Amino acid sequence: MGDSNPIEDRSGTVPAAKAVDAFAMPQTWDPDRYRANASFVAELGMPVVDLLAPMPGERILDLGCGDGALTAKLAAMGCQVLGVDASAAQIEAARKLGLDAQVADAENLTFAEEFDAVFSNATLHWIRKPDAAIDGVWRALKPGGRFVGECGGADCVARIRAALGRALSARGQDIQAVNPWYFATAEDYGARLRARGFRVESILVFPRPTPLPGDVRAWLETFAENFMKGIPSSGRGAFLAEVQEDLRPDLCDADGKWTADYTRLRFRAIKPGPGNL
Ligand code: BEZ
Repeated sequence: MGDSNPIEDRSGTVPAAKAVDAFAMPQTWDPDRYRANASFVAELGMPVVDLLAPMPGERILDLGCGDGALTAKLAAMGCQVLGVDASAAQIEAARKLGLDAQVADAENLTFAEEFDAVFSNATLHWIRKPDAAIDGVWRALKPGGRFVGECGGADCVARIRAALGRALSARGQDIQAVNPWYFATAEDYGARLRARGFRVESILVFPRPTPLPGDVRAWLETFAENFMKGIPSSGRGAFLAEVQEDLRPDLCDADGKWTADYTRLRFRAIKPGPGNL
């Protein structure tokens, strides 16, 4: 299992008096805010495209396509790519780029042996039922198809999570009740892929310190909405300022440049088929 939180059943860990249904409303994605604070996500995703090694004419599913920045790269490489994402706002942004994109829930994919490859960048750590997603990818792939992905891995943003945990606990809240992220080890995710029948060609977790375009507060506002679901809106500014000051000694350099303590889980797996058993 990953280093972070129990998945699939967190309810028992939440003291009843403090319980907030942080998962009833998913994280929201504002395409303008995402473009300003998170364009590095796609920019740093090119090594995953390289690992995918897409060929012109291939039919590819981009799982968690966001605003379509990498989907567009795959399309420009001559692939017939369909982007799917849980966020309607992000799908609208992807469609504005002229891409084929639709809203879909990664835990309930309904495609049947349609794709030569499923590609996913910076999405799988948001999925609370990893086996359901892996099942859906398996069904979506043609025999012989490949599943190539990258997401946050074990220890990803450990310092940021620790600071969030301290600020929440100072307010009597339990981080596990609101943590939406699942940061798996290579052993955990590899075992899940193999259990479904995939042949795992490569899988690893590695550190990738990630320079941020702004401060960590902007990063938190973009990615860490869930942690503030139990905090009244009048208290959110103070909460964010406290987390930022807690992190400053570790993540901000003398020139005021912030770097997030990302790790990546990166893998390439094959659904066996004729010719590649
Ligand atoms: C990511 O997009 O890779 C990411 C998002 C939230 C937390 C950690 C990583």
